[in-house]
This record gives sequence, structure tokens and C-alpha cells, in this order.
Amino acid sequence: MLSVLSYSLLLITYVTMYTYGLKNCDDNIRKKYDYVIGFYGHCGEVTITEPDVKDTQLYKLLKTSTKQMGMDVVDCNNPDPIGLCIRQTNIKDGRRHSNSQAFLRNVDRPNLHIVTGAYVEKIRRVADLPVGENIQDHFGLNLDILLDIPTMSLYNLSQENELLEYFFNRKGNYANVGTNLNLFLETERQNKFNWPDIQVFINDGLLRNGILDASKDSIMKTQEGNSAIQDGITLTVILLHPSSRGNIKLRNKKPNLNPAIDLKLLSSKDDVKHLIKGIRKIQDFVNTPALKAVNARIDASFENCLSVDKDTDEYWSCVIRNYGSPYIHSGGSCRMGMNGDPNSVVDAWLR
Ligand SMILES: *[C@@H]1O[C@H](CO)[C@@H](O)[C@H](O)[C@H]1NC(C)=O
Repeated sequence: MLSVLSYSLLLITYVTMYTYGLKNCDDNIRKKYDYVIGFYGHCGEVTITEPDVKDTQLYKLLKTSTKQMGMDVVDCNNPDPIGLCIRQTNIKDGRRHSNSQAFLRNVDRPNLHIVTGAYVEKIRRVADLPVGENIQDHFGLNLDILLDIPTMSLYNLSQENELLEYFFNRKGNYANVGTNLNLFLETERQNKFNWPDIQVFINDGLLRNGILDASKDSIMKTQEGNSAIQDGITLTVILLHPSSRGNIKLRNKKPNLNPAIDLKLLSSKDDVKHLIKGIRKIQDFVNTPALKAVNARIDASFENCLSVDKDTDEYWSCVIRNYGSPYIHSGGSCRMGMNGDPNSVVDAWLR
């Protein structure tokens, strides 16, 4: 599996496509998605792929549950993406096709100069702006859902056919990100757009079964191990529009010290409340007839919260604070805004 950060890939893809209107001409998903005018361009350096999961038992099952929740199966990059979608990724020949590979390596760009290893010690001050404020990050919680259908595990990944498939054909489960499906949920109507406020990464198996941790050593160990492990999927429930804001500051006047970063995660109580709403939606999802039919249940063995009454809002608040984590999507420290807005650093043209 390539990386748990496929969401960032998705996001970068989106930004790239939207900004440059680019799309790989060879890419056969282009035809399918062309109808969303303005969201997909034509022909470009970045490869966009969709994992081949349509025939899997898991996809078919979750599709039914999604419909039973009154939601649709959609395109993740649709202007209205609420529902279940197959994640689009940047994979070329079974490997991540990064922006750097697509746009910088092996491409001659006379108008672009990149200096690596450079260190800025002092720059002329041209304006006094709130650089470093407004930093924010996605925050989320992993929920294990146990299921009575076969799911992915390190045991499956360590099978010979899986390894051979990748080495000879650059295909199979090693050629995708391991988190192939995605749910966008709307728990609160926030504005006139149908913007999702909760994103759920649907991992192909339980993270504790090592699906994103297929190193050589762990594969060797697992090949000898047994296949009798618990089946299930880990859902990563993520708050998309956090209210908490942190900052990044210089420690002192020495420019070569690492900066002090304080994300102030969950400093806003609203964020916890909002995530609980997401968890409640997941509970509804797990209770849909299709998922109940395969004995779906949330494995809520969070030891640090045993003293709190199970399934109350206090319980989930304890779980979020004890077991949640940021998703390394920090941003916002150079806030974009209108000219003259004292809280903004750059305008819509990045000036
Ligand atoms: C994983 O391996 C087990 C044991 O061989 C098998 O029953 C199961 O179908 C496999 N899971 C998937 C998703 O292929």
C-alpha cells in the first residue's frame, strides 16, 4: 500500500485540476467525469486513476448501505460529493505519481528556478501581516467496524500471488492506497452549498491488521502466521472544517531554530461536538440493514474511557480526546482574504 495520505493526493489532484484544468489524456476516467464542467479539464501531466474495486464484496455492500442511508454513490470531486465514492488517486505504473514527478522532473521549465537546501536568514519587511496565525488541521478518529465478510489484512498482502502480481504486473493491492473508498457526510447544513463537513476514509481492512504497514519484515513474519484474524474495516472519521486555530512562531531571533508549532487542536468545544455528530452518523450507517446483515458492529474497546457511561456524548468526547489525532493536513498560516482584511496575509492572487 502506498500511503495513508491519499486524501492529500486527492486534494492535490483536485487543486491541480481545478487550477490548471489539466488531465491526463490517456486517462479513461476522463470521459466518465467530463460532465462536471469546470471541475475536470483535459490532458495534462498528472495521472489520475481510480482503483478497480467495483466488483468487490465490500464496495457492493457499502453501496447498498449508502443508499439505505438516503445518500448516493457519487464522484468524490463532484461539486456535490455527499455520499459514497471511489477515491481518485495519482498512481502511475503502480506507484505514486507525485506533483513533483508530474510537473518538475524531466520537464524543462525555463520560467521556473528551484533552489534546494536554501536557508533564508533575513528578508526585507514589506508589510506587517498575521503570518503564522490561523493554522488548522483536520482532526479525526479511527473507528474499527467488525464485519463477517472477508476483508484485507497483512496476511492477504503477504500471499505470494499478491506479491508476484505487483512485481510482474504492477497491479493488485500493492498498486493502490489501501483506502479506496470514501464517504462525505453532511451533519450540519452550513451554507448554501452542499459542502460535506465530515469525511470518512474507508480502509480496506482493520488498520490493526497491518494493511498500511506492509514492510518486508512484517510480511515475512505474517507469511508464517495464521489467517484466523478478525475481519473488519477501519473508518477514519474526520472533521473537515475545524473551528480550532493554532499558530506557528519563531522561537527567538535565531533563524535556524525549528519554529514552535501549536495547532491548538480541539481547543474549540464545537469541534468535539461536531465530530460526535459524525460518529452518530457512522452508527446509523453501521445500523443499516445491509451492514447489520453481515453482523457489522463498532468495536468500541477504548480502555481510557471505561469509567464513562458507554455511548453517551461524554463517552465519545473522552474517546475523541484520548484516541483522536490530526491528519497532517495543516494549513492556513498565510490566510487568503480580501484586500484590507486585517486577518489575511495574501489576496486571491497570492499577492
Ligand atoms: C484474505 O485471506 C483470507 C484467508 O485466506 C481469505 O479468506 C479472504 O478472502 C482474503 N480477503 C480478501 C479481501 O481477499
